[in-house]
Amino acid sequence: MLLPVAERLYRLLYHGLLARLPEATAVRLGQAALRLLPIDTLSGFARADPRLAVDLAGVRLPNPVILSSMYYDVTILRKAMALGFGAVTTKSITLGSRPGHPEPNLVRLASAEGPGFVNCNGFRNPGLEAFRADLGRLPHRRPVIVSVAGETPVEYRRLVEGLEAFADLVELNISSPNTRLVYELSASPERVRTLLREVRSATRKPVIVKLSPDFPEENRRAIVPGVLEAGIDVVNFGNTRRVAEPRLSQRAGGISGPALFANVLAAVRELRRALGPELGLIATGGIDSPAAAVAALEAGADAVSYFTAFVTRGPTLPARICDALLAALDAGGLRGLRELRIPG
Ligand SMILES: Cc1cc2nc3c(=O)[nH]c(=O)nc-3n(C[C@H](O)[C@H](O)[C@H](O)COP(=O)(O)O)c2cc1C
Repeated sequence: MLLPVAERLYRLLYHGLLARLPEATAVRLGQAALRLLPIDTLSGFARADPRLAVDLAGVRLPNPVILSSMYYDVTILRKAMALGFGAVTTKSITLGSRPGHPEPNLVRLASAEGPGFVNCNGFRNPGLEAFRADLGRLPHRRPVIVSVAGETPVEYRRLVEGLEAFADLVELNISSPNTRLVYELSASPERVRTLLREVRSATRKPVIVKLSPDFPEENRRAIVPGVLEAGIDVVNFGNTRRVAEPRLSQRAGGISGPALFANVLAAVRELRRALGPELGLIATGGIDSPAAAVAALEAGADAVSYFTAFVTRGPTLPARICDALLAALDAGGLRGLRELRIPG
């Protein structure tokens, strides 16, 4: 009962107000609401059925729905845990603090598949030292994935060494298209392989590498084999796709939202074949409905993650995805999410 009402209310709020405001105003308003509303006291959003649990490289997620990398504010991350995500990912943290790119750095994109964004956020974040202090205040009511972004393999190592104590899993962002910081890495897979080895020797925490959809050949030929060689635990496919966008301050940015999804689904199928049945695999990009999440798990993902739909579809989506997954298990007489995979 709570869920359909909350969903309808959010739809009204989003289409009636947030989607009509200038983007920067809507972002500020949305984030202020997340900070101020007593979301942590709500109990109707989390699903506790043990059949939803996922083992991601030895870490137990109560369900396979992950908030993708975007927020560094630990208050917002804590609220997301209360909304029923199975894990939350931090913003990609860099060694020094970064102001990000000037506004406009996010614009709406109406694609045939549904609402999305193009952003050139540029890694606005407080930097390693300040973020360490913040992260210490974040309760691990759900597993926390700490994302990092560096310029060199040694920088990634330092970031991982500095933050791993606060992480259940560490995510290496080698794929955001908005700065020269990480995007160019995928074009030189040998550097990625060095980076993966550096990080692997720096931590015993499970490591995720987040791939770019813009480098399919490099991923296939060199980066995925490098992941397997280095003993990386989980692949996350993927990040935004770089496009020209004259409305943004950088005249280019990364597309997010459902326009990404068809390619993500095909890539997940291919990756599952390449990685074998056991390596962890997260599907990211345009997951904005229960049907998309079910399809991603059927294609071979262990978990799904999203950011755009957190804004465009609202706070009920994790619960709605969980309910759809339980319905799919019931319909097939299945005991766990792994059994949803369709061999291909
Ligand atoms: C404003 C904005 C900021 C983002 N910041 C990061 C980031 O710091 N690190 C990262 O790995 N991905 C970042 N992303 C990418 C998302 O985590 C996600 O991979 C991407 O948006 C595709 O998923 P979606 O279609 O569900 O949004 C950002 C996306 C947006 C829209």
